[in-house]
Amino acid sequence: QQLALIIPAAGKGERLGAEIPKPYIKIAGKSILEYTLLKFKEVSGLGEVIVSTSDQYIDETRELISRVFPGLNCTVVEGGQERQDSIRNALEQISDKTGLIAVHDAVRPFVSKEDIENCIEEASRSGGAVLAIPARDTIKIARPNLEIESTPNRQKLWQAQTPQIFWAALLREAYQYAAEHDFLGSDDSSLVEKIGGKVVLVEGSGKNFKITHPNDLDMARYFIGEGVQ
Ligand code: CTP
Ligand code: MG
Repeated sequence: QQLALIIPAAGKGERLGAEIPKPYIKIAGKSILEYTLLKFKEVSGLGEVIVSTSDQYIDETRELISRVFPGLNCTVVEGGQERQDSIRNALEQISDKTGLIAVHDAVRPFVSKEDIENCIEEASRSGGAVLAIPARDTIKIARPNLEIESTPNRQKLWQAQTPQIFWAALLREAYQYAAEHDFLGSDDSSLVEKIGGKVVLVEGSGKNFKITHPNDLDMARYFIGEGVQ
C-alpha cells in the first residue's frame, strides 16, 4: 500500500522565539527539517512527500526534499494560517493512488523508524493510528484564574505525538467535514474523531518530543551532540 508523507513546516515558531522558523534552524550543519526527513528515508512503501512551508522557504525546501528522497514524488506547497490549513494545502496535492497518509511535524526529529513502522501497521489495520505516550505528569483542568477545576484520572490520559497515519479516504473526508463545519482541531486525529473514524494509539517514546520551547531546542542540540538518533 503506497504511503504519502505530509510534513507541516510553515509555522512561525512563536513559543520558541527564534530569528527564523524552527524547521530551518541548523544543528551541527543540518536543519531540523533535514534530520526529520532522514528518519523516513528507509521507511518501506513511501511514494510521495509533500512539505508545507512559508513562501520564502519554498525553493530551499524543494532542493532539500529532492536531495533526501531522490526518485520519489516530492512537492512543496505554501502553508496557511493554522497548521490545519497547511495540511489541507498539502492534501490537495496527493495523488489518488495513495492508500495511506502520514502527517509528521517538521520539528520532531527524534522519532524512530521502528515507531513509524508500528504506526503504519496499526493504521493499515484500523484506519487511523497516532503515536503517543502515557501522560507522565498529573494533568489539571483549570479555570482562567488558574484555580483547579478537576483532576482527570491519569490512567486514561495520553500525550499525542506524530506521526498520525490514516487511510487516505478517511483523512480526506475528515478535512472536508472540518472545512464545511469550520471545525478547528489541535491535531489531525481530532478531525477524524469528529466524523466518527476509528483511531488507535500506538505507544511510542518520550524521545519523540516536539521542539516547541527554548529548552526543547537545548535538548535537541544536546541529543545531536551526543550522537542520539
Ligand atoms: N505548522 C504549519 N503551519 C502553521 C502552523 C504550524 O505548518 N500554520 C507546523 C510547524 O512548522 C511545526 C508543526 O506544524 O512543524 C507543529 O506546530 P508547532 O510546534 O505549533 O509550531 P509553530 O506553530 O511554528 O510554533 P508556535 O505555535 O510556537 O508558533
Ligand atoms: Mg503552532
